Amino acid sequence: MGGELTPAGLRELARDLAGRLEPGRLRALLVAGSGLSLEVPGWAADDPVPMEEILPFPIHHLEGHSHTLTLWRRGGETLMVMNGRLHLYQGYRPEEVVAPVRLAALLGAETMIATNATGALDPAIEPGSLVVIGDHLNLQGANPLVGAWGRELGPQFPDMSSAYDPGLRELAREEAAAAGFSVYEGVYAGVLGPSFETPAEVRMLRRLGGTVVGMSTVLEVIAARHMGMRVLVLSLASNPAAGLSPEPPSHEEVLAAGARAARRLRELMGRLMVRMFPAP
Ligand code: HPA
Repeated sequence: MGGELTPAGLRELARDLAGRLEPGRLRALLVAGSGLSLEVPGWAADDPVPMEEILPFPIHHLEGHSHTLTLWRRGGETLMVMNGRLHLYQGYRPEEVVAPVRLAALLGAETMIATNATGALDPAIEPGSLVVIGDHLNLQGANPLVGAWGRELGPQFPDMSSAYDPGLRELAREEAAAAGFSVYEGVYAGVLGPSFETPAEVRMLRRLGGTVVGMSTVLEVIAARHMGMRVLVLSLASNPAAGLSPEPPSHEEVLAAGARAARRLRELMGRLMVRMFPAP
């Protein structure tokens, strides 16, 4: 793919993609974070489409992330699963990071459910716990609505006061309880990365009100809310944030925790899909 990433160009890409994938009624975008692959029981997957075939900019590869969009079908309905998100710290621009979210919104998706890996800022949260995100701190120094994007795809000054859908959060808590495990609820502190935080930064983030810290998600949530999508974010606390444990955080630890917690996350996601999109 070539060409400049502009609002008009993205609309054109969405039209091409609709012709190619024939998504029918696209119900939701599911975004899988580091080491977390998602499956949706009761829905059948198409072949994954590599992002470089869709997006008009080069895709960098990172361990633990394949970069694909996959449609899962049930009758005339679909879910889009994004494996391998794009991060600012890889050098993507904000509008590149959120391009898959905007494409899903332009294809009609009304809901975004994202998962991610985080460091726990609260020492009470054991590694491997799931945290339902209720709000965020955008400390990435970037916003995907800067420039024409804000004006052309939605309101210039979108409300972020209930960005994380209260009804979906309640559903996530109920389904986790029904599956027999507890979840925390808290605030996602979004930082740029890619270095992990210093212990002083971890103390700062905690005093600012953060519950977990991660290097993704906040831009996608802003873009999704701007285009009117409902948002649910489930974080895996993969490690204690720096300074809270004798062991420093590492990317390997993040991937290993993802693999261990994958079963619970998959079960929760499967249950949520059944509740949100009951079989006709
Ligand atoms: N800090 C930032 N991002 C992360 C962490 C962390 O400790 N763990 C997983 N993603």
